[in-house]
Amino acid sequence: MKILVVGGGGREHALCWALNNSNKVTKIYCAPGNAGISEIAECVNIGAEDIENLCKFAKENSIDLTVVGPEAPLVKGIVDIFNENGLKIFGADKKGAQLEGSKVFAKEFFKKYNIPSADFKIFDNADEALKYAEAIEYPKVFKADGLAAGKGVIVAKTKDEGIEAIKKIMIDKKFGDAGNRMVIEDFLEGEEASFIAVLDGKTFIPFDSSQDHKPVFDNDEGPNTGGMGAYSPAPVVNETVFNKIIEKVLIPTINGLKNEGIEYKGVLYAGLMIKDNEPYVLEYNCRFGDPETQPLLVRLDYDFCEIIENAIDGNLEEIKDNVKWKDEAAVCVVMASGGYPESYKKGYEIKGLDEVKNMENVVVFHAGTKKEGNKIVTSGGRVLGVTALGKTIPEAIENAYKAVSKISWTDVHYRKDIGKKALKYL
Ligand code: AMP
Ligand code: GLY
Repeated sequence: MKILVVGGGGREHALCWALNNSNKVTKIYCAPGNAGISEIAECVNIGAEDIENLCKFAKENSIDLTVVGPEAPLVKGIVDIFNENGLKIFGADKKGAQLEGSKVFAKEFFKKYNIPSADFKIFDNADEALKYAEAIEYPKVFKADGLAAGKGVIVAKTKDEGIEAIKKIMIDKKFGDAGNRMVIEDFLEGEEASFIAVLDGKTFIPFDSSQDHKPVFDNDEGPNTGGMGAYSPAPVVNETVFNKIIEKVLIPTINGLKNEGIEYKGVLYAGLMIKDNEPYVLEYNCRFGDPETQPLLVRLDYDFCEIIENAIDGNLEEIKDNVKWKDEAAVCVVMASGGYPESYKKGYEIKGLDEVKNMENVVVFHAGTKKEGNKIVTSGGRVLGVTALGKTIPEAIENAYKAVSKISWTDVHYRKDIGKKALKYL
């Protein structure tokens, strides 16, 4: 099979890597890809949101299957357009992708189908939002309705911060039309976890649990990022919690989607808050998590391409019980450009990659990298996702940091405590 992967980050490198391990796959293209991806796939210079040219490329190159990484093309309707053109593609369609593309849609959906989540109010008028912000208790969480590159959620500890958030989202329109409406919701305490499932319109395959590390500095300090590291499995999702996620979150969501006339074939990723063994949904994403996908896919003990094909064909029931996960744990440490998520410099040579290439149990997924002559240089905020397996989480942590210690560039930054939250459960 000839595959096209859309995107160019660490998640897409992991998707290409897992697809490359499948006997069914003969050729992988990736648009736009990155330096690491170019070692296993042919990178194509088309942006992930340039749906017209992606569609043209897929037709002209007889692509058998397209796999979409990021949310923006899904929310814009890439799946609908590929389907209209008779092209096979994996991902939620435009209607389904609203679960991520609109916080208002998602919150109303949670309420309608009794999916546990924070209480909320919706505003389409800044004056009313400001009046409300004056009257409530804090902390509260302020969310722009639309996509805002992961920056549209503001946890306000005080009234002043709440008012600032409304100004930023609805008045100054820092996120454009994404701020035409907003959600103000209760602050939930607990420990966060990620729960990803693949859906085929009828049933689902739950992936094993994982946990991201959003703040840029150790001990969850500093501003939120796309994710500074992840590990799987996440012991906060014990068997009781896992079963509750299936019963209280996943099944009602699938039934709700059916009831809304949405045939959801693709990835459903719940960002959860777990408190006293109870899961609450903070948000839904319609795509794989980044970096959660990196540790998850190195633990997957099944042909990834087969999961995707069966999801598109509505046949997950047939393979459901055969999908297994390695007993080993996996930890992914993100190495980033110093200054990220604010401003940072690019173009530094990355040293040490050859040294880690042959390390057992380690895979280095590239995110913001590019080739410059025979060098590989930094070209983004998150640069690498150094991912390692180990018999236990502590062993996987040790293996990952051993590899990290061999890689360097000017101003490199990474968290030193990825996986630490898991240790209290062991
Ligand atoms: P979201 O994009 O909705 O997942 O929000 C981004 C981050 O904001 C989450 O990973 C949480 O750390 C935090 N967050 C969002 N909603 C809430 C909430 N209701 N209570 C506490 N923290 C939240
Ligand atoms: N790891 C966070 C995200 O993919 O949204």
